[in-house]
Amino acid sequence: MKKIITYGSFDLFHEGHYRILERAKALGDYLIVGVTTEYYDRQRGKLNLVDPIMTRIQNVKDTGFADEIIVEDHVGQKIEDVQKYGIDTFVLGSDWTGKFDYLKQYCNVVYLERTPNISSTIIREDRVKLIKLGIVGTGRIARRFFAELKYVSGIEAIAAYNPDTESLKRFKKDFPILAYSNDYVKFLDKVDAVYVASPNETHAAYVRQAIMAGKHVICEKPMTFTYDEAVELYALAKEHQVVLMEGIRAAYLPGFQQLLSVARNGTIGEICDVEACFTRLGDPKSREMADAKYGGAFMEYGSYTMLPIFKLFGTEYVQFSIDSILGKDGIDKFTKVQFRYKDGLATSKTGAGVKSEGQLVISGTKGYILAKSPWWLIKEFDVRFEDPNKVEHYDAPFVGSDGFRYEIAEFLGKVNGTGGNDYKLTSQESIAMAKVVEKFMGLRRTQQGW
Ligand code: CTP
Repeated sequence: MKKIITYGSFDLFHEGHYRILERAKALGDYLIVGVTTEYYDRQRGKLNLVDPIMTRIQNVKDTGFADEIIVEDHVGQKIEDVQKYGIDTFVLGSDWTGKFDYLKQYCNVVYLERTPNISSTIIREDRVKLIKLGIVGTGRIARRFFAELKYVSGIEAIAAYNPDTESLKRFKKDFPILAYSNDYVKFLDKVDAVYVASPNETHAAYVRQAIMAGKHVICEKPMTFTYDEAVELYALAKEHQVVLMEGIRAAYLPGFQQLLSVARNGTIGEICDVEACFTRLGDPKSREMADAKYGGAFMEYGSYTMLPIFKLFGTEYVQFSIDSILGKDGIDKFTKVQFRYKDGLATSKTGAGVKSEGQLVISGTKGYILAKSPWWLIKEFDVRFEDPNKVEHYDAPFVGSDGFRYEIAEFLGKVNGTGGNDYKLTSQESIAMAKVVEKFMGLRRTQQGW
């Protein structure tokens, strides 16, 4: 019996999929079709899938060509499958020509001509309205965000806003955006959604105005400096029926989701302590190192360090305390926040101009999780136990260098209503962070005497 194998996501099943399965089947007697999991697709940077895996499997099954359907969930699985199932011929479409030649040592490799003018991407783009995004602020982060935007289909940056015309001009030179403006009202008129990446102290006002104009918003952290304002902005977004999301990138990375699941599934027992640290020796002239009022360690990195704490212990702590030491220009160069929960302790440590081991350690009654620096861009982590020789290692890669595309895909999913429930970073968690930021700002005012 001649066995054939082929793979795909088979999202929004279309004629191209049907034809490749038909032709693959005709090459032999028994066809195995591998359908990707959502987790695997996210890891390899294929974002925005619409159909859940059961629908995609059912659609493959309904063609009647597949004798067996398997799930593809990790890199390297194809080599394993080819050997495991005794495959004679491996088939993929011509868009993959050459990419799987390494399998030729195990079986025939055939690339079949791709059906022209159809793909899941095209259908996805036709189904949903292209979201026109405006970028507020044109500094370093906006540039990195913009560079990642092209990897998420269905959203396009069409306008940039900055009251500082010089910065706008520099941005304009590097990025082919259609419209530029230093008039926020006119800018808002052009777009469906905004990404706010302006200086910290301007976030809330831009967010409020955008929501009131009916625009969806994704805002860099920290979104606000006060609890009340955070509550108000989320309520306002609800009232205007728009999405409001705080852009804490780590929350949306596949590896971070996996780490949370492992922490919660009993592997390390009951969680007793979470310690998250983020430090950087940045450019002394940069905003985070030089802006004594709104920069500094906690403002820049505190949202990251609070994230695993609130995700794992929740937002109902019994009490918390916060303390900072200041650098010579008045910024907090190191800030420590300690949370007491009924059955747990947690520490957030942030440093700007101070270097420490930037790790995330989650301690439990059976073992602990160690995610090394940079855990906020998590690609791997360990579970360790009393016996130092027993280490469970998890690889959880993502595509790209800084993870923005995952945050953007999440935002788009929410805007289009295809993203499912809001669980990766809830408004409650974001509001709880604003409460800590507020206390930090109080401390800062006292320490700096303003
Ligand atoms: N395929 C094809 N002709 C098309 C589209 C896809 O022959 N017009 C083939 C692919 O080459 C692959 C299989 O169908 O062998 C599954 O592809 P998949 O990536 O699931 O579909 P695409 O439409 O290419 O998806 P996307 O646009 O998300 O990349």
